[in-house]
Amino acid sequence: MKSAVAFTLLFFNSGFACRAETGQEAWLRYRHLPVNLPTVVVKLGAEAELDSAAQELSRALQAFTNKTVRVTSAPENESVVLGTVEQLKRVLPDLSLPATLQTDGYCLKTTKLKGPRLFIIASASSRGMLYGAFAWLRHLAAGDKLDSLNESSNPAAPVRWVNQWDNLDGTMERGYGGRSIFFENNNVLPDLTRASEYARLLASVGINGCTVNNVNANPRALSSEFLPQIARIAQVFRPWGVRLSLSVDFASPKTIGGLDTFDPLDPRVIAWWQSKADEIYRLIPDFAGFVLKADSEGRVGPSTYGRTHAQAANLLANAVKPHGGIVVYRGFVYDHHADWRNLKNDRARAAYDNFAPLNGQFAENAFVQVKHGPIDFQAREPVSPLIGALTQTKQTLELQITQEYTGQQRHLCYLAPMWKQVLDFDLRVAGAHTPVKKIVSGFVGVANVGRDANWLGADLAMANLYAFARLAWNPDLSAEEISQEWTRQTFGNNQRVVSAISSLQMDSWRVYEGYTGPLGLGTLTDILRGHYGPGIESAERNGWGQWIRADHDGIGMDRTVATGTGFIGQYPPDVARMYESLKECPDALLLFMHHLPYTYVLHSGKTIIQHVYDSHYAAAAEAQRFPVRWQALHGLIDDDRYAAVLNKLTYQAGHAIVWRDAICNWFLRESGIPDAQGRAGHFPGRIEAEAMQLDGYAIKDVTPWEDASGGKAISCDPPRRACSASFTFNQAPGKYDIVIQYFDLNPADTEFRVSLDHQLLASWKSTSPSPWRTLNGDSSTRHTIPHIDLRPGQLITIEGLAIDYIELHAAVTLR
Ligand code: GCU
Repeated sequence: MKSAVAFTLLFFNSGFACRAETGQEAWLRYRHLPVNLPTVVVKLGAEAELDSAAQELSRALQAFTNKTVRVTSAPENESVVLGTVEQLKRVLPDLSLPATLQTDGYCLKTTKLKGPRLFIIASASSRGMLYGAFAWLRHLAAGDKLDSLNESSNPAAPVRWVNQWDNLDGTMERGYGGRSIFFENNNVLPDLTRASEYARLLASVGINGCTVNNVNANPRALSSEFLPQIARIAQVFRPWGVRLSLSVDFASPKTIGGLDTFDPLDPRVIAWWQSKADEIYRLIPDFAGFVLKADSEGRVGPSTYGRTHAQAANLLANAVKPHGGIVVYRGFVYDHHADWRNLKNDRARAAYDNFAPLNGQFAENAFVQVKHGPIDFQAREPVSPLIGALTQTKQTLELQITQEYTGQQRHLCYLAPMWKQVLDFDLRVAGAHTPVKKIVSGFVGVANVGRDANWLGADLAMANLYAFARLAWNPDLSAEEISQEWTRQTFGNNQRVVSAISSLQMDSWRVYEGYTGPLGLGTLTDILRGHYGPGIESAERNGWGQWIRADHDGIGMDRTVATGTGFIGQYPPDVARMYESLKECPDALLLFMHHLPYTYVLHSGKTIIQHVYDSHYAAAAEAQRFPVRWQALHGLIDDDRYAAVLNKLTYQAGHAIVWRDAICNWFLRESGIPDAQGRAGHFPGRIEAEAMQLDGYAIKDVTPWEDASGGKAISCDPPRRACSASFTFNQAPGKYDIVIQYFDLNPADTEFRVSLDHQLLASWKSTSPSPWRTLNGDSSTRHTIPHIDLRPGQLITIEGLAIDYIELHAAVTLR
């Protein structure tokens, strides 16, 4: 026991004492290991991926051992030997290796063959070698024993891609980690170091394809002028076995091709796509293929000419087929001008209605890419019924790594537990055991890493990229083992660190869902703007179709076959029966499937309305504990990432209260039914800013009203440069935490100041760079000044751009 502790301390001390931790290394964070390791890497071939694998092993072993590592071409002494099964058989004929490795699969084996230890990394292809090398390093970094290693691993599916929604001007659609690592100013960046580092990261977890531009594609991406630039990205991907693909605009034959049509059946259009594909393959011989978003959210598509999605997909598929490429056709097609007054309309039906009738009509190298749920990456959705319907069509499953509706990397939300529910969900196609993971032929994660040093803008969010890739390789892994594996490599092997971070990760999706929307209603965010803060009614009475159908008496979409939109009938009968029946429908999806009165009693025994109050209060309370749980790691991990994560979790704790209050207040007003526990609408210790004595501030109505306490805030508007709000403390004397709920608006350097009897207590600046410009739940932010002695009669004054309220609590918060 003692020596284990000593080992851990040694590992840690040598691990982070001397360099700043920016998160850039992500999980490839090789630090000294006090164990005996080989210093020779033997590479039996000369392929580019094999070179990368050998370089990686030597780089890692050098860092693990602090010794010089040599790369040679014949086994000698104790060494790591890298080769295809064929190459290894030639050099080590006595070695027994599995006969059944698939293209990207690998085998790891430690053997002595009567001599020194040889660490064999064998694969069927040179790309598999990369995956084997990284898997071997993963074992090492996790502290696993290597002497008895003997494992073979094959990927679950051939397509394991990420999509990047990068725009050519350098901005990013739904990206929260900085600007594009590929583009700027409508050109490819001159320096592609980050793109190459990204490919290395992807290779380390088995990803073999990356679509570099936004699905809402700029036609320029395909122009002859631009393609040579794209080829530069492919070049830096190539050594890492990552094949590049492009999102395309379906109208390209017209917009950049000079034709007067883009009709998929027109021979000139067919010829245009073929010659475009030929041109691309001349520049990028390993080009992976096209991704197409058509007839959706304003993008043009085959419907312009009365053609089908299959005809459109096949047009592109035929163009890349001679070169070994594929087309990925997005199933995310729906009418965003739907008539909300028609109770039979239902966006959730759209993917199935559009694609199920085309089952079997897609070319053999065409894949339909289906989002995991029928709406759009909400914190909770059922599995898309389309997945069960495309029995004769290849599918890729689309998961979203970038946290668009799940906290945008400002909130911790580890998505693997949600993805596992999707992957393991048994669709009962034709009455048989058919979990989603067995149906699909590929996995695509919308990643959207950016130029921020730590890629996604948040250190802990990188577990989502890691988990997506690990599940794409092996969907049978558990969310928890993945988070532990990730933590070991990212933060080290200290057991306290591993269990604390992993348990935070594992709780985070449940908690996030808990304070952002109940019972399958989805994330109750403002769907018309940033998809971030609360905005409950933004979902209603517009064409986007994310309706929750709330009124004074009840809430939820009736999607039953009996009385509703019939969506439930899109599932195979066993699943449809479960969702149709109130008795069997799980509470977590109840209001996705049914419209019910607030007084309806759930399986849990609570009414819907009481569940709303209880779950939002409970989840927000758990979020208050996140920073406290993190603080237990002080001194056990590096200071840089410790502080960065603490900052984020503290912010999240405050924003969870914004969410809790918005949702509870809104339900209280809508239903008129009070919280049996008396919490909703009652805020002990809260002093509204608009009720204070104001100097210079204007009182503003906040939209939506539920995003501010009492629906109002105070704002210091130009020409005023300074304003102040004051009140006299009149509670019992004692130690208090002073909570200031303010709006974190641009410009970023706005200062807030709090004073007590004219003595400055605290000052801070807006935590921007935040994009917020409006007083609402996006920008609403909490700052706590802990442990302040207060006596009745003292004057508390606050200055700053815009304020919602102050709360005074007996001093316990966040300590
Ligand atoms: C969501 C997202 C869009 C994106 C779209 C898609 O609606 O908000 O930004 O373009 O999904 O997946 O195509």
